[in-house]
Amino acid sequence: MKLNGKIAVITGGGAGMGRETAILFAKEGAKVVIGDWNEKTLKETVDLIRSTGGEVTGLKGNVAVQAEAESLVDTAIQTYGRVDILVNNAGVMDNNQGAGEVSNEMWERVMGVNVNGPLYLSRRAIPNMVENGGGVIVNIASVAGMGGGAAGVAYTASKHALIGMTRNTAWRYVHEGIRCNAIAAGAVETSIAASIDPTKMDPKGTERAQAYYGLIPAQLKPIDIANLVLFLVSDDARYINGAIIPADGGWLAA
Ligand SMILES: NC(=O)c1ccc[n+]([C@@H]2O[C@H](COP(=O)([O-])OP(=O)(O)OC[C@H]3O[C@@H](n4cnc5c(N)ncnc54)[C@H](O)[C@@H]3O)[C@@H](O)[C@H]2O)c1
Repeated sequence: MKLNGKIAVITGGGAGMGRETAILFAKEGAKVVIGDWNEKTLKETVDLIRSTGGEVTGLKGNVAVQAEAESLVDTAIQTYGRVDILVNNAGVMDNNQGAGEVSNEMWERVMGVNVNGPLYLSRRAIPNMVENGGGVIVNIASVAGMGGGAAGVAYTASKHALIGMTRNTAWRYVHEGIRCNAIAAGAVETSIAASIDPTKMDPKGTERAQAYYGLIPAQLKPIDIANLVLFLVSDDARYINGAIIPADGGWLAA
């Protein structure tokens, strides 16, 4: 088992790639704390893991709310003694509005979940990791963090910011045993479309995004991302730090 005895915090564990990552981590021997703002799907993941004998604690909360984000890390420390691994996975899409149209409400929602959330969790986890001799952070970014075609301005800017946070964290804590990497995920079959109201999509922005979606070479499954997260947090990747790894079937190569 690759993660025997490790303590991991995963956000957005109720669905999609967060759920698959939590299940895989538990199978590999990790004790997992998962958060989600959807209580029903969170409980489903907890039940799935417990049914196979895995060790898991589920906590309902919104990562954009500082106290709720921090309580995930605090729960790991109180329940299992420390945090070794943090996966900042929870995220929401925008409705393809450009900078000429985006509302403050959409901007703040997307930046709150996709950027502030990872910052709140990292800031709480890093001192504990340093105290215990190190740790690993994986941020789930997107091809939208590497280029401008895949979404609206809020989602695009949020994933670029997450990539910047990844590189800075990798560099800043390199001598304190912390590695931090990001995955630039391509098109993955998950329930993320439920994070937006389909009737409120921006028509012109969607037309531009569709031009980019036309280049998608492959639809990935959540387990494809989970397998890469597992590799990145394992000792097999001990020299991989500050990397932004595309998992997109070659989309970014276009
Ligand atoms: N699906 C894709 O094609 C794709 C592509 C690139 C990047 N991503 C990124 O992957 C990550 C995971 O998304 P997914 O596709 O698995 O989506 P998903 O919607 O299937 O799963 C995300 C989970 O996070 C939870 N969540 C969302 N906002 C939250 C919040 N504020 N607080 C707590 N929980 C919250 C949701 O309830 C859900 O259970 C996101 O960061 C997303 O931006 C997805």
